[in-house]
Parts: sequence; C-alpha cells; structure tokens
Amino acid sequence: MHHRSAVFCAGRLLLLLVILLVVVTSSGLGWSPHHEAQLGGLSLKEDFTMAVRIGDTAPNFRADTTAGTLDFHEWAGNSWIILFSHPRDYTPVCTTELGAVAKLKPEFDKRNVKAIGLSVDPLNDHNGWVKDIEETQNCQLNFPLIADPMRRVSTLYDMIHPNANDSFTVRSVFVIDPAKKVRLTLTYPASTGRNFQEILRVVDSLQLTDNHKVATPADWKDGQDVIIVPSLKDEAEINRLFPKGYTTIRPYLRVTPQPNKK
Ligand code: BEZ
Repeated sequence: MHHRSAVFCAGRLLLLLVILLVVVTSSGLGWSPHHEAQLGGLSLKEDFTMAVRIGDTAPNFRADTTAGTLDFHEWAGNSWIILFSHPRDYTPVCTTELGAVAKLKPEFDKRNVKAIGLSVDPLNDHNGWVKDIEETQNCQLNFPLIADPMRRVSTLYDMIHPNANDSFTVRSVFVIDPAKKVRLTLTYPASTGRNFQEILRVVDSLQLTDNHKVATPADWKDGQDVIIVPSLKDEAEINRLFPKGYTTIRPYLRVTPQPNKK
C-alpha cells in the first residue's frame, strides 16, 4: 500500500515537472541574458544583462589574449584603461581601428593609459588577423586583444546589443581609472570607426578635472580655457586656486586659463 502511494506521488511529481518544463520553454520564460516576455499582448523587454555604467567598479575577468592569459584588474595595475570591443575579426573598419590605437601608444604612455581590445573570435583567428593588421596598417599591435568566443567578457560588459546583432559585439568603449572605476562609456555602431583622438581628449579632461575644481567646455582641447565648477563660491578660494584670474560671463559660467599649464 505504502509502496503504491509512493510510486503514485513520484509519478505526479514527474508529470508536474514535465508540464512546468513545457510551459517554461514554450513561453520563452526561460532565463537568457536578453529576454523578451509577452505580457497581455504587450512585449515587455527585460534585459537581465546589467549595463556597466559610469561610477561602477569595472567588472574583473580572466581572459585569453594575444599577449597571454590575464586577470584584468591585475593587468590594469595603476594605469588608466581603455577597453574597447570590435564586432569580429578580419573586418575592415576594425582593422583600421586597431592600427590607429597601436599608433597612439606614445600618447597613451604620456597619460598612463593602457589599451586593450576585444573581439569574440578565438585566439587562433586573432593571431592570423594581427599579422594582417600589422602589414596593412604599418604598425605593431602593442596591446592585448581579448579572445572572447564564449561571450563571457562581452556579456559581462553588455557589449552585445541583440537588436543590433545577437552574436557580435557593438563598438563599446570603457575608460577605467586606476581605482577601477568606469569613467566613460561609449557605444558606436559596427559601420562607424571610432575617433580615438576624442577618447584621448576625454582622458585629458578626466585627469585634469580629477585634480582641479574645473570642468571642460564643449570641444575643449588640452591647453584651452576651462570652466570653474559652479559649486565653488568662495572668492578667496577662487583667487587662491586660479591665480591667473578668471572671467565671469554669467554667475554660473566662469572661465579661467587651464590651471596646470604655464
Ligand atoms: C568592420 O569592422 O568593417 C565591420 C564590422 C561589422 C559590420 C560592418 C563593418
């Protein structure tokens, strides 16, 4: 009697599990990083991938790269980091971008910046592609290129935007400071190569504004006048911090020569 009821219970449990499995898989309610659920005829987009935002600590990872396997935070050390993704290997725009970044190494070095690229193809493909990049762009690939065939790092950093392409990364850029805080995020479409001079310009602005109570105006370039932060009100302190003087255009818009330049 006991044996028959135990078999009966197990049977019902199994049936329930099968029904649950069928409901979950057919309704699309199974977990996926980019998940779309239907609610009462409405399409509710639930994106379970957490975007990496300004102010966040940059997520750490271990990955294979063209410069060997690395722990991201360890590799970053006390440098500023530019982490940028490419849709895939052997593509023309990416080839020019990687060449452009390699040639900017002296500028990165001046600013204590290290670059690291990512493409979802495997290391074997990267190694072949690097030869093409070096030949066609006339450079040495002097920074690591992450191989991410399992999309681990791309998912961690939300570099795959499924409504653009569900397999390949968009052109993401993250500027990360020595404290591992994300200071800039940028997303470009696959068809547009990035302007790495602009990314250097942002690094200049971040490094300046970290050390002085200023902000940088539209299209500012290193050496040009800057803006005194509106929160700074004390006249004596302003005169002490900005001995070259300043111009008040509006009470909230005060400009001064860049404080760390002669
Ligand atoms: C490129 O890098 O050339 C590229 C990649 C994906 C789509 C379009 C262009």
